[in-house]
Amino acid sequence: MSVQVYEQFNIAGRTAVVTGGSGVLCGTMARALAAAGCRVAVLGRTPAKVDRMVERITSEGGEAIGVTADVLDEEAIKAARDQVLEAFGRVDILINGAGGNRAEAITSADKTFFDLELWAIREILDLNLLGSVIPTRVFGAVMAEQGSGSIVNISSAASFRPMTRVMPYAAAKAAINNFTEWMAVYMAQEFSPNIRVNAIAPGFFIADQNRDLVIKPSGEYTERGQLIVDHTPMGRFGEAEELVGTLIWLVSDASRFVTGSVVVVDGGFKAYPGV
Ligand SMILES: NC(=O)c1ccc[n+]([C@@H]2O[C@H](COP(=O)([O-])OP(=O)(O)OC[C@H]3O[C@@H](n4cnc5c(N)ncnc54)[C@H](OP(=O)(O)O)[C@@H]3O)[C@@H](O)[C@H]2O)c1
Repeated sequence: MSVQVYEQFNIAGRTAVVTGGSGVLCGTMARALAAAGCRVAVLGRTPAKVDRMVERITSEGGEAIGVTADVLDEEAIKAARDQVLEAFGRVDILINGAGGNRAEAITSADKTFFDLELWAIREILDLNLLGSVIPTRVFGAVMAEQGSGSIVNISSAASFRPMTRVMPYAAAKAAINNFTEWMAVYMAQEFSPNIRVNAIAPGFFIADQNRDLVIKPSGEYTERGQLIVDHTPMGRFGEAEELVGTLIWLVSDASRFVTGSVVVVDGGFKAYPGV
């Protein structure tokens, strides 16, 4: 028997939709998929950010289109699906990366849980749960028809044990792990074992949505930023590129018997009780 190690990771020619592909972590994922030979649809809310990422991928020699849509607007996501199918003809990979937090949904010394406004709680629950459920309904239906595909949800270290201050975000990310398992079973049993659904749970990476929580304008860590580093055995924040190996593994045939898994990429944060 000869085992074709590198061939298992080959994803050249596949079509990928990356929601939140205009952001820090999933922008890097979109660039990595393009560099691996995928045709990539970068999906985000702000046209200028989407255009910038498409230009970047194109300038790096990759193939990409930009799609502007809100992941919470199912009609807009259906229009995005039509745009992707017209350009590329199929959808092999869906990365559900759109997500994040906002100051109004975070407790602080001046704002208790009881002061949080319901609209802010609801917005973060919706963005981080329905924002993956809706694209999975729309693009997952294409995969169901094709009989193949790989979906990767983006969870968080906050999904396993809730972190202080970020109640709606943590609750929604916990729900993402549950949704990942549910969807994995559903796709394999009802449609095809060749449709896999997994998640990556990143530890702490500095991005637009959390920068103010962890870095002061002076560039030093905030108290919370320092706590994070102190509770990460590797002693630092992650770099977006450090998610790429796990991503390529999950969307390639190298993980063809893996579904319903939440893969942790966190510098040891989850394993460390702080003692
Ligand atoms: N950074 C971390 O440490 C960390 C850790 C664990 C998990 N995560 C998760 O990783 C994912 C990516 O986050 P990131 O840190 O890279 O944040 P980011 O740089 O803020 O990127 C988030 C992206 O999602 C897009 N987006 C937000 N709401 C959207 C909506 N309703 N419809 C369509 N697109 C929307 C944003 O585009 P617009 O700006 O145009 O809205 C942006 O491009 C998120 O799910 C986040 O929760 C991050």
